Amino acid sequence: MKKIGIMTTGGDCSGLNCAIYHIICGAKKRGWTTYGILDGTDGLIAEKPNIIRMDTNTLPPEQAFVAGSFLRNGNVGQNNSFERAVESGRVAQFTKQLKKSLAQTKLDAIVLIGGNGSLSLAWQNRGIYSDMQLVCIPKTIDMDIPLTERTIGFDTAVSQLTRFCDDLMLTARSHHRWFVVQSMGRHCGMLALTAGVAAGARAILIPEIKFDVDKLIKHIKSADTDYGIIMVSEGISLRGHSGRPGDMISRKLTAAGIANRTAFPEHIQRAGNTTPNDRLLAIQMADTALSAIANNETYVMTALQNGEITTVGLESVVSAGRAERDPNIENLTISNATVDAENPLLVAANDMGIYIGETK
Ligand code: F6P
Repeated sequence: MKKIGIMTTGGDCSGLNCAIYHIICGAKKRGWTTYGILDGTDGLIAEKPNIIRMDTNTLPPEQAFVAGSFLRNGNVGQNNSFERAVESGRVAQFTKQLKKSLAQTKLDAIVLIGGNGSLSLAWQNRGIYSDMQLVCIPKTIDMDIPLTERTIGFDTAVSQLTRFCDDLMLTARSHHRWFVVQSMGRHCGMLALTAGVAAGARAILIPEIKFDVDKLIKHIKSADTDYGIIMVSEGISLRGHSGRPGDMISRKLTAAGIANRTAFPEHIQRAGNTTPNDRLLAIQMADTALSAIANNETYVMTALQNGEITTVGLESVVSAGRAERDPNIENLTISNATVDAENPLLVAANDMGIYIGETK
């Protein structure tokens, strides 16, 4: 019989509760007990680890499909967080305390449901988990974790953002104006690309593909409608300009005489009831995580590869992709999956006349 813990760290997204719920169910079937760590590593570092026994009464099925995390994801601003420890040069003490707290829990394994920042942090400080198994499940709306074709939360975010644009399209038509919608996604344009195509955007700007503002303006001016959506990923930059990317593009359009407004869906992209696709991904990732624990695997991440869920080594995940500095934690490099110019959706969008930048 195993005693396993679950924690959710980093930005939340829809699908976390679904993964937690299925881990509880699958663990129960195996005769294991499940504990939830509240507030991620911030909860663990507390004098007495913030940990509760979990079953399907704690997290009933009707709560499994709502957004957010029942376990909460931690409070980056609080004194005892990893971020503060890095800022004040106390990383060694922090990790020592974490290891001590974890020992108190007497867990055999931890399922960490996290994004690329959390995974990189866990690998960098892997000694914390050396007395137990560490199995990770990738979640993020950004779809920026290498070696997996899907992350929990992405599909729901696409759905949220698409619906947001659908609503704007109607008011755009009524007023003969364009909406510059700024999506989340950090350095990865996958969310902007996918929702942009789904919403019928006429232009999609993502960080991975260079764009030319004059060509964008020409493209919009020659469009067969005087309204529509221009999707701008939050990770793009415009030389010589500062401020929010959506505002920068909007100002350029206004200066060129194109009537437009900006719209910022912000954290609504992380909300919404979990889509069926995310629910199906969550159950399969939970199942694979439990099998990995049963097989005594450690420092692994569940991953969707060629249509099948498998496990990949954490080390290979954090050393794949493009290395980027973590915006919140100094000295932490995170690996980032990116959209390449051969991406089939990007190619199709280009072929359909959507302006996606200078691909050639
Ligand atoms: O990584 C998920 C994400 O939603 C990004 O897309 C976005 O840049 C960031 O988190 C927002 O973070 P916060 O919730 O701290 O504002």
